[in-house]
Amino acid sequence: MAGGQEKLPLDDEARGILRQWMLHARQGAAQSPPPAVAADELSVEQKLELLCSRAENWKAARRLGTLRETMVFAVGNPHARLMLVGEAPGHDEEIQREPFVGRAGQLLNRILAAMGLSRSEVYISNVCKFRPDMGPNQGTANRPPSAEEIAACRPLIMAEIRAIRPACIVCLGGSSAKALLACEASVSSLRGRWLECQGVPLRVTYHPSYLLRNEALSARRSLWEDMLAAMEQIGLPISEKQRRYFLPS
Ligand code: URA
Repeated sequence: MAGGQEKLPLDDEARGILRQWMLHARQGAAQSPPPAVAADELSVEQKLELLCSRAENWKAARRLGTLRETMVFAVGNPHARLMLVGEAPGHDEEIQREPFVGRAGQLLNRILAAMGLSRSEVYISNVCKFRPDMGPNQGTANRPPSAEEIAACRPLIMAEIRAIRPACIVCLGGSSAKALLACEASVSSLRGRWLECQGVPLRVTYHPSYLLRNEALSARRSLWEDMLAAMEQIGLPISEKQRRYFLPS
């Protein structure tokens, strides 16, 4: 996993437990708790290591034939209280095999810095682990994942949430909200209130790339208000200055 431990030795017993745990993830058992044995006997790092290696050959995604080869898993702290979920890797992420390293990622880093956080203190992932394919002339172009592509990868992100058990999830954009909330509603209708995914409080906000296209103060303030709510949820101190960011002067 990018930013985490590279490999963890697993004995036969651990492999057996991991297999059960993955079977649960594969069946897309999003609404039911994972097998008790997993929570008790595996570390978060072991669960993520297994998920990462299974994602490489995730048949439901490969079978579609519409996603590219390189798998991009996640980055950050497996023990983070805050988990951020985007849509899919793009050109830059595919090259570096790390989520949110392109222009949207740089903006995300600035948002995190304004919150007093760094990338290594949060956990950053995507609902779709492969860059959506656009054919032989794709170049640096990217497209959002389709509903089918999101559905195929959904068991992976749901299993990541069960492994991390963060105090708060922030969905960055509509694809992420669709996957985690299993609904089709727009970001603007979902944002600004608490929702939940597998028992974890969840906030939906705009994708950073939306803010790169729309620099209106009101859009920046909306995203910032969602981040202030997430900061409160995870118990981060908030200064008066932070509270007032992007308010009209
Ligand atoms: N946009 C996303 O949603 N995820 C990335 O990793 C990069 C850009």
